[in-house]
Amino acid sequence: MSNLTKQAVLEALKAVSATSGSSNVVDSGYVSTVIVDGDQVGVVLDFGDSRPSDMPALRSAIEVAVMAVEGVSAVNVVMSALKAAKPSDAAAPKMPTGAGSKAAPKPTELPGVKHIIAVASGKGGVGKSTTSINLALALKAQGLKVGLLDADIFGPSVPMLVGSDEKPEAINKILQPIMAHGLKVMSVGFLLDIDQPVIWRGPRVMGATQQLLKDVAWGPLDVLIVDMPPGTGDVQLTMVQQAKLSGAIIVSTPQDLALIDARKGLAMFQQVKVPIMGIIENMSTFVCPHCGENSDIFGHGGAKEVAEKLQVTFLGAVPLHMSVRASADEGKPIVEADPENPISDIYKDIAEKLRQQLGL
Ligand SMILES: Nc1ncnc2c1ncn2[C@@H]1O[C@H](COP(=O)(O)OP(=O)(O)OP(=O)(O)O)[C@@H](O)[C@H]1O
Ligand SMILES: [Mg+2]
Repeated sequence: MSNLTKQAVLEALKAVSATSGSSNVVDSGYVSTVIVDGDQVGVVLDFGDSRPSDMPALRSAIEVAVMAVEGVSAVNVVMSALKAAKPSDAAAPKMPTGAGSKAAPKPTELPGVKHIIAVASGKGGVGKSTTSINLALALKAQGLKVGLLDADIFGPSVPMLVGSDEKPEAINKILQPIMAHGLKVMSVGFLLDIDQPVIWRGPRVMGATQQLLKDVAWGPLDVLIVDMPPGTGDVQLTMVQQAKLSGAIIVSTPQDLALIDARKGLAMFQQVKVPIMGIIENMSTFVCPHCGENSDIFGHGGAKEVAEKLQVTFLGAVPLHMSVRASADEGKPIVEADPENPISDIYKDIAEKLRQQLGL
């Protein structure tokens, strides 16, 4: 196990100078979040209004500096400019401004879509995307018409998960979803050049989210699964204010920290009266790929306890297993690649519970 700490990463970042002025990227306020997950590091930069002139160079400098920290095997740098769009009074309620000066509209249904379900978490990297795709496939296996909306505009992962880089067609300005594994799928990843860093500013975040919902030919669908970005930012807010969600699923790892974050995720939906369909514990037990023995590396069962305390349904626990990751990396999620696998059965079991809750 590595002892990589956030502090070590921050120290390394302090050696990277911000291109404007002499201060480093930390003291200049560019670094908004550092996430350390095992040996993987995520760095979120928020430039606000002071966009540096050479962002690709800054990104590379940060990647090099973080990779040099002992114990780091991968680093993911995400660039944003969200601060600029936020009201200066941090205590003021966050309301999306929408595409123009119009007031935030009431959540609406999407034509021909019976149910929209958000898959969310407070913290990043807990397996939302993996859960979303496998649940979508499990629901499809029960004979339902299912779509998957990748609402993670900052780090779209659905194109990789479904193994497609097709370009969606637009008919009369309405995007036609990509068909992958029998699902209707849409992601900004299909629309953008992944290698080009995109700067999403507040209003554009809302615009892009709205477009993914409303300018895509989703219907007819029984269920549209929405793979949310981590946290409780503008995308989440736009989503709950624009679309009438049938419910939300919270994904959490058993670690306490993640559970605290999961509560934040829960609270956001509860505030806007979106029913919580339940909590899924992901990466709960470690199944040794060699001997098949289970071991609880994170302390299994945390999510179940929290679910009971918060009186929300515990939907199930998905173990940490290489087959989940390997099949995802190949663009063939486990429910599709290996439907007889016991882990696929867990997803199907959860899908069945969802179907019953929705009355489908
Ligand atoms: N049960 C599991 N067993 C093994 N690996 C898993 C499992 N669930 C997810 N993973 C792996 O963990 C990584 C993170 O998962 P995923 O991308 O689904 O998380 P996420 O919550 O969507 O992340 P983000 O917050 O960045 O959107 C991926 O490499 C995925 O393959
Ligand atoms: Mg994701």
